[in-house]
Amino acid sequence: MSSKYKDIKHIQSRIIVTKDNSKTLLIPELDETYHSTNGAITESKHIFIKEGLLYSQRKKLNVFEMGFGTGLNAFITYLTSINKNLNIDYSCIECFPLPYSLVKQLNYSSLLKATDLDLDFEKMHLAKSEELLELGNFNFTKYLNAIQEQKLPKNHFDIVYYDAFGPKVQSELWERPLLQKMWDSMKNEGVLVTYCAQGQFKRTLKEIGFHLESIPGPPGKREISRALKLS
Ligand SMILES: C[S@@+](CC[C@H](N)C(=O)[O-])C[C@H]1O[C@@H](n2cnc3c(N)ncnc32)[C@H](O)[C@@H]1O
Repeated sequence: MSSKYKDIKHIQSRIIVTKDNSKTLLIPELDETYHSTNGAITESKHIFIKEGLLYSQRKKLNVFEMGFGTGLNAFITYLTSINKNLNIDYSCIECFPLPYSLVKQLNYSSLLKATDLDLDFEKMHLAKSEELLELGNFNFTKYLNAIQEQKLPKNHFDIVYYDAFGPKVQSELWERPLLQKMWDSMKNEGVLVTYCAQGQFKRTLKEIGFHLESIPGPPGKREISRALKLS
């Protein structure tokens, strides 16, 4: 794990408002945010839902998220599973869980017009490591662990949301050992999506064997990456 991140993990992040009026968290010491400052909800819907979850066109999916963070991607995936009648087994990992008292202040459920599901969002945050939450057609499991240490099932995930902090902050999370781990955990025809379009990262994906697509990103991001496991 990056010592840079480890050193500052006790320092409080601060809430900021992004351009679509949704909030995110900023870690001032790293000048790093949990979501795009051009729109947190817009980013999540565009990259992970539209270009990942819905791109696959499957009705039953195993999804893995690297970096649960505020839970925004997980919550929007949950809402999508309800609206589109999808059966989702959602697994995610987080080694520095945020206090729910802070996450609550982001008001995601009200911005997403889903205050009736507030309690489910809270349950996701309060869930213990590896506790299974059954929320209708959406099964949720969170590993409270570092991705480097977590054993993942082989050939299991249809979709991977790769939502780590950027390579400038945590370069090791964008290098071959972990990306190979993602490949191994994915089914054939599985899809990994991420906001990252860095050259070295894309070369590493190709070396591993991924078929790489550079696709248009949300506002403020010309290009994002989608990597397909076609073997
Ligand atoms: C960009 S944020 C994720 C944002 C999140 N997807 C959301 O919707 O709020 C990256 C997350 O990865 C977590 N993280 C950092 N290093 C990690 C590691 N080695 N293993 C697991 N999680 C890690 C951070 O604590 C942070 O919550």
